[in-house]
Amino acid sequence: EAGKSGYDHYMCKEINEQPRAIRNCLRGRISEIDASVSIDEIGDLARPERIQFVGCGTSYHASRYAARLFRRRGIPATAFYASEYDAGAVPVNEETLVVGVTQSGETADTLSAIRDANRCGAETLAVTNVVGSSASRETDHVMYIRAGPEISVAATKTFASQQVALLLLASTLAGDYSRSLVEALRALPDQIQSILDGSRASEITDVYARSDAYFFIGRGYGASVALEGALKLKEVTYKHAEGFPGGELKHGPLALVGDRTPVFAIVTGESATGKMLSNIKEVEARDAPVIAVTDSPSAVESIVDHVLRIPETHEQLTPILANVQLQLVAYWLAHRLGRSIDKPRNLAKSVTVE
Ligand code: G6P
Repeated sequence: EAGKSGYDHYMCKEINEQPRAIRNCLRGRISEIDASVSIDEIGDLARPERIQFVGCGTSYHASRYAARLFRRRGIPATAFYASEYDAGAVPVNEETLVVGVTQSGETADTLSAIRDANRCGAETLAVTNVVGSSASRETDHVMYIRAGPEISVAATKTFASQQVALLLLASTLAGDYSRSLVEALRALPDQIQSILDGSRASEITDVYARSDAYFFIGRGYGASVALEGALKLKEVTYKHAEGFPGGELKHGPLALVGDRTPVFAIVTGESATGKMLSNIKEVEARDAPVIAVTDSPSAVESIVDHVLRIPETHEQLTPILANVQLQLVAYWLAHRLGRSIDKPRNLAKSVTVE
């Protein structure tokens, strides 16, 4: 109990620890002089020809986010579920960097994918939270996310720290030191704090506690937020939740949408205009309540039922902020439903069998 520092659950404590976790992740990695980014422990790693990410669960979602960051910087990048990775076929050579994204550094499928990549001659890097973990020992390089210990089975602060670490990695390897990005990174901990202090997730969640299912849609950087929002919600509430890119709505999920299926729509960055708004109208035409997670409330206020607001930031940081609101949604819904939040049924913190 003492370890929870007054919070009811580790999950809530860890959600609230995110500003500190991110400050730790950034410490010493952004130069005070020229705002360049450097990661001491991987100083000898050069810009790869191509990059592949492997991860499971929440770490796979961080991998998807990372792949997009690298593609945007001109480096071909793909994210794989570690269990589906096939280094022999993708293909891999010594110009390929394979990054195992794993909080614990012990997930069996991720370790197996790393071994596969090593066998095929790729350069390998572990992005992990645990010093001395198997992943850190079996790769050529290791970058620590420095989130501090995470006790709750559902990953929260480690996801935020993974995203920040992977953004630093992308900037370093691509030599991209955009001032606006660095400034946005520095402001990120305080912005997360402002969400934690002012979120309306608890009251909004109360309104929809008895729904049949919960859907999450996002585009671009918002797509990985949608996937993670649904995963978090199902892990801790045992409710049916699905996340998918907004564009996929018409290809199946729309058949399930109705007045008992609230839709969380991530409306940030370039997605705020146009296509996401038409997705919102599509689900509203089927009577679904819509909760927008957005940095531009004025674009959506008049057409949605509720708004979970996030501060304005660099587009590549919007997923980190939007995700905090959805962590709170999952937490408060599980709380209301009286679930075993820190140790959900059937789930383990670290899955050490394939
Ligand atoms: C388990 C945990 C998840 C986590 C996944 C990957 O399923 O319950 O929260 O995202 O493993 O774990 P890793 O330690 O590799 O990041």
